[in-house]
Amino acid sequence: VTFPVVGVVGGGQLARMLQPPAVALGVRLALLASSPDEAAAQVIPATTVGDEKAYDDLLAFAKSCDVLTFDHEQVPSEHLRGLVEAGIAVRPGPDALVHAQDKGVMRARLFELGIPCPRHRIVEDPDAAASFAAEVVGWPLVLKPVRGGYDGKGVWTIESPADRAIGQPFLAGVDVLAEERVGLVRELSAVVARSPQGQAVAYPVVESFQENGICVEVVAPAPGLSDDVAREAQRIALKIAAELDVVGVLAVELFETPAGGLLVNELAMRPHNTGHWSIDGAVTSQFENHLRAVLDLPLGSPRAVAPWSVMVNVLGGGLEETFSAYRHVLARDPGLKVHWYGKSVRPGRKVGHVTVVGSNLDSARDRARHAAAYLRGDIDE
Ligand SMILES: Nc1ncnc2c1ncn2[C@@H]1O[C@H](COP(=O)(O)OP(=O)(O)O)[C@@H](O)[C@H]1O
Ligand SMILES: [Mg+2]
Repeated sequence: VTFPVVGVVGGGQLARMLQPPAVALGVRLALLASSPDEAAAQVIPATTVGDEKAYDDLLAFAKSCDVLTFDHEQVPSEHLRGLVEAGIAVRPGPDALVHAQDKGVMRARLFELGIPCPRHRIVEDPDAAASFAAEVVGWPLVLKPVRGGYDGKGVWTIESPADRAIGQPFLAGVDVLAEERVGLVRELSAVVARSPQGQAVAYPVVESFQENGICVEVVAPAPGLSDDVAREAQRIALKIAAELDVVGVLAVELFETPAGGLLVNELAMRPHNTGHWSIDGAVTSQFENHLRAVLDLPLGSPRAVAPWSVMVNVLGGGLEETFSAYRHVLARDPGLKVHWYGKSVRPGRKVGHVTVVGSNLDSARDRARHAAAYLRGDIDE
């Protein structure tokens, strides 16, 4: 019996974290990366270096794989459609993936499905954005080019009509999504996985914390979330996965409003930062379930193995040489798990994460925050 080859486009940390469950299952990964130094290229021997946005490179790579999936959403839709026509199994498919690539398409589709989103309008120039604010949502106004953003790059908050930054988002050369700045209580994320047959599983709904638009911390499950709201978040995510025919992991980023309502912010169709806790904190990680889903295997249980999991991202900071920090961090807390991405340390870049799983939320959070701060070089004891 031959085991299948899963081709992953994009060499970041998400592709890298697919490798341990692939090893466990005996599934082979092949990688298309833009450089041999990338996070995933370091751990996947079958790496092809090529241009992830060039059709010929994608096709040549895909032909050596049984199924194609993604580390990121940057592959052009027309290339993906070409691959499907060439007989390649692309999962998620281009018609699903476009909703994670284009915030305008995503909002229009969610509106059709009756799923609540922030009030918004697609605008073509700063004047149209200013009119939308003046007439509908007021100031401050949030502007996002419909394509290309991640980690808060591509989110502008415009304080008033006099704020000259209002022109900036339009320089990206694509339409811009203008929306109300939501007076949110907190941010939640509902991660689900779905297979081509339509089997789906929903992870516990988590709370995520961002700084400067970057996710810094995730608590699973979201503390104090009512069963009703948790179920509603999972229902929304499962409905989106089914209606959009998503295959693999779908993460639905949500805003919780003061009235206890939910608004969908955006979608990701790949393992997501708000699901990293599941490596250590769930029966089946989001990475394993992504692999199972794209291979059309039965999905694993998404159940948490402990009452709380806290994941804290390590963002690049002052410490250049991290390995020497392991001695202290690992000795101090034998229950802690460190995940390192093998990326060069640059300020604000996600270079790793730590997870603590346990029965006491406050202590799990303190321990995870301490380790992340130490690995980052913010503290030295
Ligand atoms: N309309 C909004 N109102 C309030 N906060 C927002 C709004 N849109 C985005 N944000 C904040 O910015 C973060 C990043 O925005 P998002 O649209 O998710 O872009 P990215 O693609 O960079 O993740 C969100 O997680 C949230 O903290
Ligand atoms: Mg986001």
